[in-house]
Amino acid sequence: MDYSIETLALDKLETDCIIVGFYDNQQLSPAAETINSLNQGLISKVIDRGDIKGKNAETLMINYLPNSSIQRVLLVGLGNKEKLTAKSYRKALSSAISSLKTLKLDSLCCSLADIEINNTDIAWKTRQIVEVFNDAFYQYQHTKSIKEQNINITKVQISSGKETEVEANFGLQQGLAIAKGVDLTKFLADLPANICTPNYLAEQAITVANNSDKMTVEILEESDMETLGMGSFLSVSRGSRQAAKLIVLNYRGGEKNDKPIVLVGKGLTFDAGGISLKPSAGMDEMKYDMCGGASVLGTLQAAAEMQLKINVVGIVPSSENMPDGDASKPGDILTSMSGLTIEVLNTDAEGRLILCDALTFAKKFNPEVVIDLATLTGACLVALGRIPSGLLGNDDDLCNDLIAASETASDSLWRLPLWDEYGDLLKSNFADLANIGGRDAGTITAACFLSRFTEDYRWAHLDIAGTAWHSGGANKGATGRPVPLLSQYLIDRANA
Ligand code: BES
Ligand code: MN
Ligand code: ZN
Repeated sequence: MDYSIETLALDKLETDCIIVGFYDNQQLSPAAETINSLNQGLISKVIDRGDIKGKNAETLMINYLPNSSIQRVLLVGLGNKEKLTAKSYRKALSSAISSLKTLKLDSLCCSLADIEINNTDIAWKTRQIVEVFNDAFYQYQHTKSIKEQNINITKVQISSGKETEVEANFGLQQGLAIAKGVDLTKFLADLPANICTPNYLAEQAITVANNSDKMTVEILEESDMETLGMGSFLSVSRGSRQAAKLIVLNYRGGEKNDKPIVLVGKGLTFDAGGISLKPSAGMDEMKYDMCGGASVLGTLQAAAEMQLKINVVGIVPSSENMPDGDASKPGDILTSMSGLTIEVLNTDAEGRLILCDALTFAKKFNPEVVIDLATLTGACLVALGRIPSGLLGNDDDLCNDLIAASETASDSLWRLPLWDEYGDLLKSNFADLANIGGRDAGTITAACFLSRFTEDYRWAHLDIAGTAWHSGGANKGATGRPVPLLSQYLIDRANA
């Protein structure tokens, strides 16, 4: 897809379709107004017929204009002008692009960067257009022998006035970098676990690093982890024929001595549960248990593409969790890299076992902050559904910065408490702590477990079990979240 900023006046524009907006009081967007007067009030006449009321995300196609180099006009409802938010703006964009996807269009122009929304600028709007459109254009094809080519659009223009061209271009570049990161994350998560193994993820990380002269990569093997004392991580991969990998990406966009932001992503390429085997219904979806790791790769790629002037380290512990004669058993006790011993009461609570060693390992980078992201608990879906990711952490400033970034990026978060009382649920008679805390507050007790390994630095944990994936249905597949949120957080840090 070729995206560009178009500053031509609308009477000179040539396109197969332009997207314009109007509100539920029938007021037209600036571009809609211009096209209306260039075409003898055509848009007003169409709206007067009453087939479209201007409710948010409503669409109507005017698919013929006499005497115009613009072939079609897609009208999009924006709803109430005063109530238009970042969320409803994205909803309108998303509805517009879905209605066009299967049409015979080669080129498309979106004029909706001219819509007023509180606290946003043209760069933000341009970026949203790119992100929302690119999300809609994503098509997983890799393992289909019959390729479906159902998107004809090859060229997307985003219209802007001459005076805002530079800003719009800035937003476009950011949008493209983030969209590319999202695409990579979605692709890796959509791949089946027989292709996307820990080794495959490691190779992808090497490719990401090789595409930037500011990024290096190191892949630690099981023997290295043994030397480091990662008994907890290694206990998870015991049951698998695939060797575990610890992927370490290092992006140096900042000054040599700037402390890095460290991102740690759970990279379980398949979670069968181990000896505490999962039920078979829907187990195929546990190929997405590496979304945290894939999002780390996507975010580092985006940071490098945007040439952010900060240092970022990405750590991805990657493994399978399988049942096997050599697999860990409930009741087994391990020694983590930190020295803390862990009683494995349920082998399906494996994410925290690989993350705790990665979080201990993170210390060696002398981090400014550490953020881990993981499809960690089914309980997060019960508590929060699929709208926000769960946020827990030991530092209010960091949590607030992440919440602010989530709002800008429209990639929402909701904070849960990380109180000592919950941590008490992890007591074990036989080890320093147990790997599960019982039925109550599963997302919180999982985070409490991690918090025992993050006491030496500012840390936040994102539980993305509900947000990284669209379950079942026609939409089944990865979302690419939280790449937009993390990219925004890094942009904010680079600007701070
Ligand atoms: N990967 C799962 C969590 C998960 C569940 C992610 C559903 C996405 C959708 C994790 O490893 C797991 O199995 N967690 C257990 C923890 C339990 C044994 C305490 C769970 O959530 O059931
Ligand atoms: Mn599990
Ligand atoms: Zn898991």
